[in-house]
Amino acid sequence: MYTAFHPKEVWLDTDGNVIQAHGGGILYKDGVYYWYGENKGADNCTVEGKNLARVDVIGISCYSSTDLYNWKNEGVVLPASDDPDSDLYTGKVLERPKCIYNKRTGKYLLWAHVDTADYKFARAGVAIADSPTGPFTYLGSFRPNAGEMSRDMTVFVDDDDVAYLFHSSEDNATMYCSRMNADYTGFDGTYTRNFEGEYREAPCVMKRNGRYYMVTSYCTGWAPNVARVAVADSVMGPWTLLGNPCVSEGAELTYGGQSTHILKVEDMEDTYIFMADIWKAENLQDSRYMWLPIEWDEDQMQIPFVEEWRL
Ligand code: GAL
Repeated sequence: MYTAFHPKEVWLDTDGNVIQAHGGGILYKDGVYYWYGENKGADNCTVEGKNLARVDVIGISCYSSTDLYNWKNEGVVLPASDDPDSDLYTGKVLERPKCIYNKRTGKYLLWAHVDTADYKFARAGVAIADSPTGPFTYLGSFRPNAGEMSRDMTVFVDDDDVAYLFHSSEDNATMYCSRMNADYTGFDGTYTRNFEGEYREAPCVMKRNGRYYMVTSYCTGWAPNVARVAVADSVMGPWTLLGNPCVSEGAELTYGGQSTHILKVEDMEDTYIFMADIWKAENLQDSRYMWLPIEWDEDQMQIPFVEEWRL
């Protein structure tokens, strides 16, 4: 039993196995948190002609918890395919899964970055299920709006139940916010271009006191770089890119991590968790998690590094 968060340390599930949920996100539903992430539990392999660390796709894992410290493995809810023509082919890329619930349809939508091993496909894929633990049925992939690229991504559902995909587009130079259709299975054609030419990726979005905050990383593959926070009064922007929210030693490299999700903790006032990945390029399956508390100086986000902490 865990009673605290231990950023960067090996994190075991309730069966005693290492948690495989990288680039992940969390959905809260009916008293349970569901953590979806990349299952990278395979050995590194090489991409022909490329110096890019990768592992074959296993699929998207799901874990469940009621206390956020102890996680039960719910299995691979969207498995890889052995068909080379499938977006989910083991030899391709399936990253940064985020699951949202559609109150109107009662369906769970699992969005993820789907790509080819050379990252040229650059699309957002979506799968659907009747239950948070699946089974998920893959619906297909998009280049949203007029066919713009979609690589690193997150999804955000606003208080009015409208959902958005934030995605690194234009070869990662510009962060798009693309509004989804009412079913959250596609897009309605409305979008904004943000941080033009800034090469921001690994987006995560939250809302507090009517303002929106987005944390992103710079674009350096598996290697850590400096995070920046952006703010907006409206979810589609204009977004103002501000400075680094990290405030402790190691802040200039996000303490070795890269953002993936911001979790609002239920039934706790003003409590948010910054979730990041500690990528281990030389052995990706040993990549770790770094969950840190978010603090506020009035409306300025601050992310301190702490070795051990509790809610
Ligand atoms: C990062 C990205 C990761 C992964 C990696 C591959 O920039 O945030 O999700 O795609 O590149 O090198």
